[in-house]
Parts: sequence; structure tokens; C-alpha cells
Amino acid sequence: MPGARRLLEHLRARGVPFGLATSTPATYLKEKMRGHEDVLAMMDCVVTGCMVNRGKPDPEIFVAASAKLGAEASACVVLEDTPVGCEAARRAGCKTIAIPSIRDRKCFEAWSDVVLHSLYDLELEKFGLPAFDDWLPVGDGSADRVLPVPTIEMRGPVVKGFGRGSTQLGIPTANLDIVPLKHQVDSLAPGIYLGFASIRGETHKMVMSIGWNPYFDNSKKTIEPWLLHEFESDFYGEELSLVVVGYIRPEADFTTLEALVERIHRDAEVARVVLEREPFVGKRQMLMP
Ligand SMILES: Cc1cc2nc3c(=O)[nH]c(=O)nc-3n(C[C@H](O)[C@H](O)[C@H](O)COP(=O)(O)O)c2cc1C
Repeated sequence: MPGARRLLEHLRARGVPFGLATSTPATYLKEKMRGHEDVLAMMDCVVTGCMVNRGKPDPEIFVAASAKLGAEASACVVLEDTPVGCEAARRAGCKTIAIPSIRDRKCFEAWSDVVLHSLYDLELEKFGLPAFDDWLPVGDGSADRVLPVPTIEMRGPVVKGFGRGSTQLGIPTANLDIVPLKHQVDSLAPGIYLGFASIRGETHKMVMSIGWNPYFDNSKKTIEPWLLHEFESDFYGEELSLVVVGYIRPEADFTTLEALVERIHRDAEVARVVLEREPFVGKRQMLMP
């Protein structure tokens, strides 16, 4: 899950104990975590499906994990991506944060204290835990901030979107086909990002949305970079390369189209400012031919 390693390293550095409570049996867990053995090794406890009598949504697994961590369940915070997991955690008496792995967010609400879009949106201080300190303020007097994320590169021919960007919003995006980029997209939580884009031999700043556009309630996930440059003609079919370096915010719903457009322009302003600075500015070189 994007942001998981950042979270665990943050907690470990601050001496907050954490564990894994999974319905997956121990042998499958080993398979599932192949290549991520170091993450498993960071856990203070691991409780698998083999170690309990009743699976989620029964609370047994979280009661057992809390005991292994030496804490009351009511003092523990659970992060879950399934509705049955949230139900189990809540019934155990834990505080419960849902990060849905499915598009339906409603079914999490009854069992969760908060339903997030991704781990990047987690505000630990709201749960009595030490806050993240790696967000960078934009420093223009606004509350805007940017989170540096592990760099992701993507490339492909520009494809047509739903056609609303240039007509309804005045924000023409250069969409990429999501299918061949599944691996990269899985490394990025849905949300609004910034970085650099290269097309026709030139590199430009860009802001990008990955997700379902809640304002339009799309059924299809899309990758929509907006290149911060005036082009004289469109570039469907032309090869576009991207390097994604920072996260701005989750996708949001808005009451009016004007509010959506205003927010996207603010994202662009954030990108114009922070992409001139370290640790972002040096990443531009990654797109040089
Ligand atoms: C920087 C940026 C931020 C965006 N933020 C949102 C958002 O918060 N909510 C939303 O519904 N759509 C958001 N969008 C997506 C736009 O709604 C989308 O680009 C527009 O619908 C055009 O889509 P199309 O290219 O498929 O026609 C964002 C797009 C960009 C480029």
C-alpha cells in the first residue's frame, strides 16, 4: 500500500509499537510478503489466521494482537482496508481507520472512526500519535503543503479522456492509458500529485490527478496530467514521459464546477512554486534525453 513503509519507519523511529493482524494463514503470508521481508521484520508482533479460532469480523484477532503488544485494545489504532476488518477492529474496541481497497466507501463508515483515501492523508496526531513531519509548507502564507513521495516514472502515448478538461474546465489534461501502467499506478495512492512532464523534446512542470474524479463520479480510474505550458496544438498519440515527485491532496468532491476549477488552479500554483525547490527541482533531470 503506498505510504506503508513511510508510516512504519515513522512509528519505529518514535518508539510506537505496531503489529500485523491478518486473516491470511502464515504460509501464504510468507508468499505474499516476498520481496518485503524487511517490512515484516519491523513488526513487533504478527498474528495470522492460523493463530485464532474465529476470523474477521470476529474481534479475536485484534484482541490477540493488542495483548501481544502489551496494550489494551482501546489504546490501539487499527488501519484496515476491508469492511470486515473494520468491523472486527471496532468490535475489539480499537480506534479504526479505513483505507478502502474497493471503490465503495460507504460500507466502511459504520465501523470506522475515519475513512481515508490513502495513507498519505493520515493525521496521526488526531489519534494521539506523533505527527508526520515530512510535509513541506509551500510558504506563500497559505496552508498548502506538499509531501515528497518515492519518485515514479511513467510514459505512454497521450489518449483521449472524457473530453471535459478542455471544454468544461478550461484545463486540458494529457491523459495516459492506465492499463499498461498498472504497476506504477499501484505505487501511487489515488490523489493529486506534482512533477515534471516531457513531450516534443521539452520538459514542463505538471500537476496530475489519479483516480475516479469524485466530482464527476467516473466508473473508470484515470491518469490526468495537466502540463503547465501553453501548447498551440493538441498531442493525442504523441509520447509523453512523466516523473511524479510529490503528493498534494486527496481527490475531492466540490459543490460547484467553479470550486473544482479554482482548486485545480491552486494545485498548479503550488506546483509552479515548489518544483523550483529541492528536493523536487533536481528530479527534472530524470526526463532529460
Ligand atoms: C491537478 C488536478 C486536480 C484535480 N482534482 C480533482 C478533484 O479534486 N476532484 C475531481 O473530481 N476531479 C479532479 N480533477 C480531474 C478533473 O475533473 C478532470 O481532469 C476533468 O474532469 C477532465 O477530465 P477529462 O480529461 O477526462 O475530460 C483534477 C485534475 C487535475 C489535473
